[in-house]
Amino acid sequence: MSPTPMTRTDLSNVQVAKDYTGLCGLVADRIANLVQTKPNAVLGLATGSTPLGVYSALVRRHREEGLDFSRVTCFNLDEYYPMSPKSLHSYRQFMAMNLFDYINCPNWFVPDGLRRSASEIEQDCLEYEARIADAGGIDLQLLGIGRTGHVGFNEPGSAPDSRTRLVTLAEVTRQDAAPSFGGIDNVPRQAVSMGIGTIMDAREIVMMATGAGKAAIVRAAWTEDPTDHIPATWVRRHPNVHLRLDESAASLLLEADA
Ligand code: F6R
Repeated sequence: MSPTPMTRTDLSNVQVAKDYTGLCGLVADRIANLVQTKPNAVLGLATGSTPLGVYSALVRRHREEGLDFSRVTCFNLDEYYPMSPKSLHSYRQFMAMNLFDYINCPNWFVPDGLRRSASEIEQDCLEYEARIADAGGIDLQLLGIGRTGHVGFNEPGSAPDSRTRLVTLAEVTRQDAAPSFGGIDNVPRQAVSMGIGTIMDAREIVMMATGAGKAAIVRAAWTEDPTDHIPATWVRRHPNVHLRLDESAASLLLEADA
């Protein structure tokens, strides 16, 4: 019997920019366009190094073009646990320092990383989900991708119907965070993260990746069958997902398709 022919990867929802600046321009244009057409849009935002250029592009457009965020609501994907919201390592401070201190968006939320009991965390996670629903649901969810294939902090093993909850970070993820924490021993072992199900409820998803270090996981995310081992593979199943890459992050995916 002849082997089942390989189906070519569907790259119709993939766009590749020449470099990081181009990539951030593409993503910032999409967000700006949404905010202009729907002034009360609800955005789901990510931290990490990948979206930094998107945030500076949005700050520039706010300053120079008056891009208005006054009616926009933003929900961040995750926060380390335990983590004080005042700590410079917190994602709350990250978002303030890289975006919200410089635009006119009063309504922005980051999961609470303060140390508290398991039942209090559970309650707060339910409230985070309820707050997203009350805001009308997320119009556009921005995602990076971790080397484990995590989205948000949904590490391998996360179920496709998972919701906001306390999660345990993979060692690779902690190692990647170690330089900014001054060593792996200072990196929290847990986080509070929106679930895959929470992310999949968004009406549109934009996943972005930059650099050769992400090329292998990008290829896996976009070519492997959906599996809990690579949480980003679930995201590819979203009916309105867009993958935005620079040339280095796209290199192995394009090779796989050649
Ligand atoms: C951050 C987040 C993570 C990052 C991912 C990539 O809020 O949810 O999934 O997007 O770890 O991180 P960077 O962009 O630093 O490579």
